[in-house]
Amino acid sequence: DWSMTDFIDLQIAEIRQTVGNKKVILGLSGGVDSSVTATLLHKAIGNQLTAIFVDHGMLRKNEGDEVMAALNRDLGVNIIRVNAQDRFLAKLKGVTDPERKRKIIGNEFIEVFNEEAQKMHDVDFLAQGTLYTDVIESGTNTAQTIKSHHNVGGLPKDMHFKLIEPLRKLFKDEVRELGEKLGIPHDLVWRQPFPGPGLGIRVLGEVTEDKLKLVRDSDAILRDEIKKAGLQEKVWQYFTVLPGIKSVGVMGDGRTYDFTIGIRAVTSIDGMTADFARLPWDVLQKVSTRIINEVDNVNRVVYDVTSKPPSTIEWE
Ligand code: XMP
Repeated sequence: DWSMTDFIDLQIAEIRQTVGNKKVILGLSGGVDSSVTATLLHKAIGNQLTAIFVDHGMLRKNEGDEVMAALNRDLGVNIIRVNAQDRFLAKLKGVTDPERKRKIIGNEFIEVFNEEAQKMHDVDFLAQGTLYTDVIESGTNTAQTIKSHHNVGGLPKDMHFKLIEPLRKLFKDEVRELGEKLGIPHDLVWRQPFPGPGLGIRVLGEVTEDKLKLVRDSDAILRDEIKKAGLQEKVWQYFTVLPGIKSVGVMGDGRTYDFTIGIRAVTSIDGMTADFARLPWDVLQKVSTRIINEVDNVNRVVYDVTSKPPSTIEWE
């Protein structure tokens, strides 16, 4: 009978056989797929694997540190973390179009990865967290034309690595189960979907460090309250956005003119269609009060009550 333990043993044997005593690199995004791939490879070949964690500075609050703690500190995966926020922000300066932002972030990711990879020698293999659904989708490509959903993917073209894709027969749920078996923390493995361009597409229009901070801090509050309410695995995806508009408010004796934060929370099966989540009023009220009190320069919080279609889940 099929079991995850058998799968792990089989994969480990196969990886060892393929790799021999050669070196493997992997691009770590902080997402589930690349994290599980890295951990599986580490179990098979130890420090013959080097994972390159390109932190583009648009991850959620503490996310980069949490990935490092779980994979590097606790599981011993050999990881080079590149804190590249400045590079990404420089490239994004003045750019407002969502698709261009996506392309820039995707290209820069590959660029940073390549630079790190080139510093290493005698690397024969590149490991990727390709799933079964990725294998199928890359055939048709229709979804991609709606939005260029790039994850860590783009194989460095000028390099001649052999590919290792140990997850290519698995579905997402199986990857999560595998992750847990490998000792990756539950919260990391079952986390909600998070787009490759990260908070970069949740700051609408031009991305700046200040604006990222507003989204990052308000998002952390929303996630905290969703967790406290026990709704973490009932809502499919939930996050905050910065539409970039300012509105008038009142504080003490004075008027304020500050930013609005939007809350988006949806139920869905696969992200293709979605409905806005009926979050309890008291949860929304707590989130709103905390965002106003704890995040500077915000004086209004709104809730997105549209489904997909006609809206998308993300605002960009
Ligand atoms: P939309 O906004 O198209 O989102 O309704 C559907 C799902 O896809 C995610 N998403 C992305 N994921 N790169 C990604 O890796 C992207 O550029 C991207 N844009 C949207 C979104 O978070 C939702 O889960």
